[in-house]
Amino acid sequence: MASYSSPIVVLDSGLGGLTVVRELQTALPDEDIAYFGDTARLPYGSKTAATVTRFVDQIITFLLPLQPKHVVIACNTATALALPALRARFPMLPISGVVEPGAKAAIVAAGAKHCPAIGVIATDATVRSKAYDRAIHRRRSLATVWQLPTPILVPLIEDGRTTSDPLVKLALQQYLAPLVKHGIDVLVLGCTHYPVYRELIEQMLGASVPVIDSARQCAQDVGSRLRNAGMLRGTSPASVADGSSAQRGSLRCYVTDDPQRFQRLAPRFLGVEIDAPVWVSPDELYVQRPNGPVPLSVPA
Ligand code: DGL
Repeated sequence: MASYSSPIVVLDSGLGGLTVVRELQTALPDEDIAYFGDTARLPYGSKTAATVTRFVDQIITFLLPLQPKHVVIACNTATALALPALRARFPMLPISGVVEPGAKAAIVAAGAKHCPAIGVIATDATVRSKAYDRAIHRRRSLATVWQLPTPILVPLIEDGRTTSDPLVKLALQQYLAPLVKHGIDVLVLGCTHYPVYRELIEQMLGASVPVIDSARQCAQDVGSRLRNAGMLRGTSPASVADGSSAQRGSLRCYVTDDPQRFQRLAPRFLGVEIDAPVWVSPDELYVQRPNGPVPLSVPA
């Protein structure tokens, strides 16, 4: 059974969800985090809801032996396509995503405007799902939402291309031009990979257009959910009694392909180096192991 000292599971198709881990580590520095990057099967953004739901179901099932106290779907695509199905499949597990926090942050950034124009760049699948459209309109019914699929960005980012790369500049210029023409008031980065290009995007849009990503809001939401459930490490009576509040949380990463590459690129997303990720063959996800992964407290 999960307890306050259980890990938080964070998952994405690849490196992008590490932008959420970074905010979680800042907001909740004592928490142990198990991160799963499904690098063998990315991108998720070009796949169907059935496929993405099956992939994420397999990952959560694989990590269940860690007894996570919370699962963060740190992928807009998987949140948009699979969150209700995953909650139904794992009713005892608190699961949250990134779309609602992103929409919430966008509305805060839009301020008092009754009819703000909100741009959303995201994967094909996220745009097709209209998840942002619904989440924004639920909060501000008169908002105009301009959603734009930007499918080239995830492959560029996973390829390690930086903002000094002419291909990246060209892609962003082409993608952002129609949104600039529409006179958007706010831009939502509707994919957890995109914050690595945030500075250049901000430069291209100018200071008057706030650029939002859901990572910070998502970390705050996870913090308050855990606090309300008495599951926050460092504040529950038991953790205070055993002195564990002084301990910094650990991060263990699991990937389905090329752990070295993931380890090399991770600092761009996280700001710090990571230990070598554990490689999990996708075959293992189809045929689940009875004992699952090694618990976080036991060195690999
Ligand atoms: N980081 C995922 C998202 O937020 C990536 C998408 C992909 O794998 O295409 O949508």
